[in-house]
Amino acid sequence: MTFKAFPQFNDPALHPFAASRSRLKPPHERYFPSSSLADRLARSLARHRAVPIKEAVESFEFFWRVRNHLRSCRIVDLMCGHGLVGLLFAAYDRRVEEIVLLDRKRPPSHDVVLSAISEEAPWVVERARFVQQKVQHDWSGMPLQASIIGVHACGRRTDACLDAAIRLEGAVAVMPCCYQEDAPGPLSVARALGPAMAWDVHRTYRLEAAGYKVRWTAIPPAVSAMNRILVATKIPVDCAPACS
Ligand SMILES: C[S@@+](CC[C@H](N)C(=O)[O-])C[C@H]1O[C@@H](n2cnc3c(N)ncnc32)[C@H](O)[C@@H]1O
Repeated sequence: MTFKAFPQFNDPALHPFAASRSRLKPPHERYFPSSSLADRLARSLARHRAVPIKEAVESFEFFWRVRNHLRSCRIVDLMCGHGLVGLLFAAYDRRVEEIVLLDRKRPPSHDVVLSAISEEAPWVVERARFVQQKVQHDWSGMPLQASIIGVHACGRRTDACLDAAIRLEGAVAVMPCCYQEDAPGPLSVARALGPAMAWDVHRTYRLEAAGYKVRWTAIPPAVSAMNRILVATKIPVDCAPACS
């Protein structure tokens, strides 16, 4: 499995760097030497000491794998933490009109990440809206047909991301983690597959039953062991409503 946003990390000697929990700092700019937007954004994140290296790499690699499936004018990043993943959608695609970033806490790193991203993509600032609240199970305040993201939302909060997508009739991409032991479905299946696989199989059946087409993909395990991505689309891209 290869690094796509940052192909330089396909060199195995750089895997420990890519997975490091140390903060991305100015001396690390040299690991992102090209003029690609990914490298420019990473250098800006490094200058601002915005996030740990692993979180930056994880966010970009996730984004790279799902972006073409989640084309929408509105993106909702649930359990967003610093919000880097959601912001990347607007940084790369000026047609994205609104990014809702929701978390029960607004970490100080969010403002630093926003400053770093806006140095390269200033249009992102006016499109991003941080909503500080616990995830609700009433999605009425969220934009219809928004694409939903849930990166390491933790345990059942991943399922809340799927609930949101089904309710809002949008595409969804999740990278689950913190799988609980009590996977739904037959015990024999959970025993044979293990809880992580059993949960994601259950999630896949659930989405397909709700009219989605589900793909499985992954970020390189060298950066995270919790690397499986479920990406589900409902409305064919060509038929998606036009941005206003
Ligand atoms: C593991 S972090 C993932 C953050 C981010 N998605 C990322 O990939 O870096 C999980 C996040 O979920 C948030 N969270 C936990 N419970 C929540 C809840 N009930 N409602 C909203 N956010 C919650 C935490 O504050 C934390 O930022």
